[in-house]
Amino acid sequence: MSSSTRTLIRGGLVITAADEIHADVLIEDGRIVALAAHGSGPAESWTAGRTIDATGKYVIPGGVDAHTHMEMPFGGTFAADTFETGTRAAAWGGTTTIVDFAIQSPGRSLREGLDAWFAKADGRCAIDYGFHMIMADVNEGSLKEMDLLVQEGITSFKLFMAYPGVFYSDDGQILRAMQRASSNGGLIMMHAENGIAIDVLVEQALAAGRTDPRYHGEVRKVLLEAEATHRAIQLARVADAPLYVVHVSAEEAVAELAAARDKGLPVFGETCPQYLFLSTDNLAEPDFEGAKYVCSTPLRPRDHQDALWRGLRTDDLQVVSTDHCPFCFTGQKEMGRGDFSKIPNGLPGVENRMDLLHQAVVEGKLSRRRWIDIACAAPARMFGLYPRKGTIAPGADADVVIYDPHTEQTVSAETHHMAVDYSAYEGKRLTGRVESVLSRGELVIDRREFTGRAGHGQYTPRSTCQYLT
Ligand code: URP
Ligand code: ZN
Ligand code: ZN
Ligand code: ZN
Repeated sequence: MSSSTRTLIRGGLVITAADEIHADVLIEDGRIVALAAHGSGPAESWTAGRTIDATGKYVIPGGVDAHTHMEMPFGGTFAADTFETGTRAAAWGGTTTIVDFAIQSPGRSLREGLDAWFAKADGRCAIDYGFHMIMADVNEGSLKEMDLLVQEGITSFKLFMAYPGVFYSDDGQILRAMQRASSNGGLIMMHAENGIAIDVLVEQALAAGRTDPRYHGEVRKVLLEAEATHRAIQLARVADAPLYVVHVSAEEAVAELAAARDKGLPVFGETCPQYLFLSTDNLAEPDFEGAKYVCSTPLRPRDHQDALWRGLRTDDLQVVSTDHCPFCFTGQKEMGRGDFSKIPNGLPGVENRMDLLHQAVVEGKLSRRRWIDIACAAPARMFGLYPRKGTIAPGADADVVIYDPHTEQTVSAETHHMAVDYSAYEGKRLTGRVESVLSRGELVIDRREFTGRAGHGQYTPRSTCQYLT
């Protein structure tokens, strides 16, 4: 291969989950082929058709957001970002891989759900993408299908202890799916909230005239997240299966995960930027503005945040994903005026995750390497994408972000690229910003200009969870 087809990233600080080195990075054919100390003999001898000067910048792996919901149907509407707009916004924010959720409809097969999600995504994504499978109907047929899906690279399955009548599985169904995962190598992802109890509290709140968005947070109690987390862990133990708990928000749920991990159990946890940076104060904003912050699990009182940050530092939580599931305030969140239970659940954030977590580095809450671990390497390993994704190493896909750690920005819906009419972080001042992004060696963001295209992103089959082997 001639040097004209190569890209050289020169002079930056390369940060991975393991190391920080002043190194030059050589890219060829969409892959990283070599790293060498900046100024060293090998690096000085490299030639390339394109050289990117990263002096004074970080050179980091593209972000892996393992929890997004583009175009997701919910409560009679659809998440506002399509695979096209949502993956473009992800690229702007330094994320180069998403793992979204294909959904099984009750009474239908997993395959039908998966085919429908491939049809939505194929040819439209700006960055690479994979799928988890939401199982909304655990039965003999769908249990058998799990085996085939694992073989094909759909190696993780989300179950819901919440949303009775929609996505809900009972304990028997959960146990069966876990037993199947135990034998086929799949990873069960759990939405851990006691939905049966929550629905009683919802009904009682509405009957008492408590209809504002803040009651969404009040009925979805911390105890009911902690109880469901505990129950999920015990069921996983009975089934001898690994477990990944999604969108952990409550201190008491972190404690359940920590206790399980202290026993040496293969139990993992994810939290999201909204639980680290927002709180019930946002849900209580007047004039129905609180609806912008309705998601499940719900935002918690501010004093839960310390436990989440601590969990990320101590590895009781491994991953930060966004659970990006945006609904516009106008016309979508507004569906729940006068009845908080009709507000579509979900927050936008796929564009903000890398920057928000970098802010935690600036504020001394995370080390730079831990930032890259929880945002890139750990999600890649958790969901069988490592080391192709999530690191900068010879052989890895050249998914690379040139990150400017000094530029300041103010987050705003005026300037973001997500197809949603508000930002959950409006007005927040952040230090650090994505400058350029390569996806498999192609510049998709070039010095703050989008140079990618819909259809560049490829479907990425996954191996099984790499935390277990
Ligand atoms: O409120 C949320 N999280 N919406 C997306 C669906 C889910 O439960 O992850
Ligand atoms: Zn240097
Ligand atoms: Zn969920
Ligand atoms: Zn979700």
